[in-house]
Amino acid sequence: MSDIAGHIDANYDDFLSELKDFLRIQSISTESGFAEPTRQCAEFVADKVRALGFSGVEVIATEGNPMVVGEHTQQPGAPTLLVYGHYDVQSVDPLELWTDPPFEPTERDGRLYARGAIDDKGQVHMHLKALETRLKGGSGLPVNVKLVIEGEEEVGSSNLEGFLRTHADRLACDAVVISDTGMLAADCPSIGTGLRGIAYLDVIVTGPAGDLHSGSYGGAVVNPANALATMIAALRDADGKVTVPGFYDAVRPMTEAEKAQVAGLPFSEEEFLEEVGASALGGEAGFSTLERVGYRPTLDVNGMISGFTGDGSKTVLPSKASAKISMRLVPDQDPDDIADRFTAYFKSLAPSGVSVQVVMSHGGHPWAADPDRPIYEAAAAALETVFGKPPVYIREGGSIPIVSLFEEVFEAPVLLLGFALPGCNAHAPDEWIDLGIYRKGIETIAHFYDEVAARGV
Ligand code: BES
Ligand code: ZN
Repeated sequence: MSDIAGHIDANYDDFLSELKDFLRIQSISTESGFAEPTRQCAEFVADKVRALGFSGVEVIATEGNPMVVGEHTQQPGAPTLLVYGHYDVQSVDPLELWTDPPFEPTERDGRLYARGAIDDKGQVHMHLKALETRLKGGSGLPVNVKLVIEGEEEVGSSNLEGFLRTHADRLACDAVVISDTGMLAADCPSIGTGLRGIAYLDVIVTGPAGDLHSGSYGGAVVNPANALATMIAALRDADGKVTVPGFYDAVRPMTEAEKAQVAGLPFSEEEFLEEVGASALGGEAGFSTLERVGYRPTLDVNGMISGFTGDGSKTVLPSKASAKISMRLVPDQDPDDIADRFTAYFKSLAPSGVSVQVVMSHGGHPWAADPDRPIYEAAAAALETVFGKPPVYIREGGSIPIVSLFEEVFEAPVLLLGFALPGCNAHAPDEWIDLGIYRKGIETIAHFYDEVAARGV
């Protein structure tokens, strides 16, 4: 067998320069006005996949951003892996907080900084370069690989379900592999065994017909901004529990075995605190940080808009106040059920004098893995080969809403093989990928194919 590490070393500069080209494309899906660069980004991915010798490579239009598909299926009888990732990225706002421009990838101290560096272009690229390493490096691909790289993950993947169902035959597979999650630490290879679900809602509180002078009317008219603040404050109690009636009804309580597993993970609250840069941590009483993130649901305000927010002061009583609220969900909570419960409760909190509108933005189901499958052993073996130690198993706090959909449509297990490090600033200014991990990720995936070929899924 030819030398995987040697091939990566010999081509590393080209890999990195291509990754930078990928990161230069402004494929923002969370704001309007970027449809053209986003489409170009899909073409970029398709070109790279074609260059690998894949067949059926296509950029397929949807009602939103296009999908990129392709396959390399020349091993009859061997397992077929479907690799899913996303080429779209989050907005770069607030731009002024970036050290370097977000679409001019910049290397500093072993990291590459750019929007999408880790979420998820960098991780998609690891797969492309692992495939290249096998297909161009002489060792060949011992399994079948199909790719679906989408452009709307950051906005809820609304066109993916229809797409997967329409193309279910073409995309049929034995397992799904996704690299869009994280590692506990750089020296801690990790396999994701769970994701939280999400229910994301806009709430709009409306009071007077128009903005009013806050002297002439203040104190005599219900202020929607004050009302919204009071209503939001009532959504959690002093123990950090969400007060929406029935919110916890479907939550699977942690088992003793799960508690022990989490307690045994090499995790430092101090480092986590340092990573977030706050003065203290907070959350639901009675749970550790890893438990709060991986096993417990929560409710957060993502943004609030009301009244005058410019420089200086303007005395105004706003006519409207709105907020963006997300609830991260755990098995077996259902996003639609939770959204309904939230809506009824939130409306009941409104004082007279305001009206409340609640609009569901998007939702996604939580997911937990069955890690007793050969594909998990295959991933563990590949990680151990490259990182020199066995992986840890972690439940992620983030959401990839389509994971349960993949399981259902293909009746296949999903493997989360993620390489994002803590503090990588996904969705924030100065997003980065650790280039040492980028290289190890490529190597791990290149070895993983052999392990899957040997063990099955
Ligand atoms: N890569 C993330 C998902 C993720 C984040 C997994 C952190 C594990 C840890 C993905 O690109 C993402 O950001 N998903 C969104 C989904 C939402 C828009 C429906 C998320 O979690 O906010
Ligand atoms: Zn993301």
